Amino acid sequence: MHYHRRKVCRICGSKNLKPILDLGKTPLANAFLTKKQVAKRDATYPLQLVFCPDCSLVQLAHIVDPEVLFKGYRYMTSGSPVLIEHFRREAAEVAERYRVGKDDLVVEIGSNDGVLLERIKDRTHVLGIDPAETAAVLAKKRGVDTLVDFFGNRIAKKVAAKYGQAKLIFANNVIAHIDDLDDVFEGVKTLLRDDGAFVAEVHWVYNLIGDGGFDQIYHEHLSYFSLHAYSRLAKKFGFVVADVEIVPIHGESLRVYLQKSGKPSPRVKQILAKEKKAGIDSIHAFRRFAPKVEKNRRDLLKLLNTLKKKNATIAGYGASAKGNTLLNYMGITKKHLDFITDTLPSKQGTFTPGAHIPVVAPEMLFSKRPEYLLLLAWNYAPAILHKEKALRAQGTKFIIPVPTVRVV
Ligand code: TYD
Repeated sequence: MHYHRRKVCRICGSKNLKPILDLGKTPLANAFLTKKQVAKRDATYPLQLVFCPDCSLVQLAHIVDPEVLFKGYRYMTSGSPVLIEHFRREAAEVAERYRVGKDDLVVEIGSNDGVLLERIKDRTHVLGIDPAETAAVLAKKRGVDTLVDFFGNRIAKKVAAKYGQAKLIFANNVIAHIDDLDDVFEGVKTLLRDDGAFVAEVHWVYNLIGDGGFDQIYHEHLSYFSLHAYSRLAKKFGFVVADVEIVPIHGESLRVYLQKSGKPSPRVKQILAKEKKAGIDSIHAFRRFAPKVEKNRRDLLKLLNTLKKKNATIAGYGASAKGNTLLNYMGITKKHLDFITDTLPSKQGTFTPGAHIPVVAPEMLFSKRPEYLLLLAWNYAPAILHKEKALRAQGTKFIIPVPTVRVV
């Protein structure tokens, strides 16, 4: 089967998990297919969200085996100019804030191709830890020493014994991928100095159910954090939530600063209060989520079907993983979209999992000139709308699919 159902909450062990959204059975969102693979049936896995009323963590009900999920994981941070800029700025700001010096150690969990650590490698001793071999090769080329492994308490002890404890530990967009968070937080406790900080960015569930898109739900993302849930996890391991910022990544993410001592900043209290007001610390806020997603599906399908009846030409823009959640849940197929363009050469020439829509190079936009483009990489909407000024001036319209359908 290559997956299992989780019966207890990943943070607090509660058995009281409540279903809040069912997106059906879908293929893995990053499993782009070769021409040969398209002829076979896609492997699909249940995609359901549950809520834990005891610690308020939103999580997937089913866990796909990591060997299946991350086999040949090809994601590279350096593929996204927006992320490069964001992580570099983060590295410099946080190193400054904690006065990191030449003799300190800075570790990154899930360091991928080393973009973040490269920024501060001349200022301090940096070490990346990531199981993705191909990304680690690129990181090493950037001069970022990288350990190819999954982070946990075993590795933490090894690193601490060899280099001493770390002043800073970063973890961006990786905590949500990990099933055994106890081992990771135990490891952070082992590796972090008493005057250090564990700085992690996680996609914010407040944004997911609000102004963001439900399509960020896919099998790689096991947990969807509120500050309430993250604080509960931190407390379990004796950490203080010293500070938090909202950063404009994947819609909105939380950058949470954990320390072994200190006091929460006023921002921590403000964001907790904001979540409470929205009912995110109880199932209340999530009861409205499934009907909202269902309405989003009806509205988008109605628009695409109406356009097709008028013989309009429509293509997709950006073959993102989230786009595959959207296409497969909504039942958008080759009947709606002729092709999807993507700037990454590794995706060009493949077909999307489930919907089997061909992924092509952006040049196709100029030879085919579709009348409408479904923006599947909506997280970069401002940058893309700006970049495609010429197409838009010639009449091509963009359809922004989530959280409500808009044509611009
Ligand atoms: P990404 O942001 O990584 O989202 P996900 O995590 O859901 O996969 O993916 C965005 C995709 O869009 C990526 O394959 C690159 C592509 N893209 C374009 O084709 N053109 C663009 O201008 C941008 C910004 C991205």
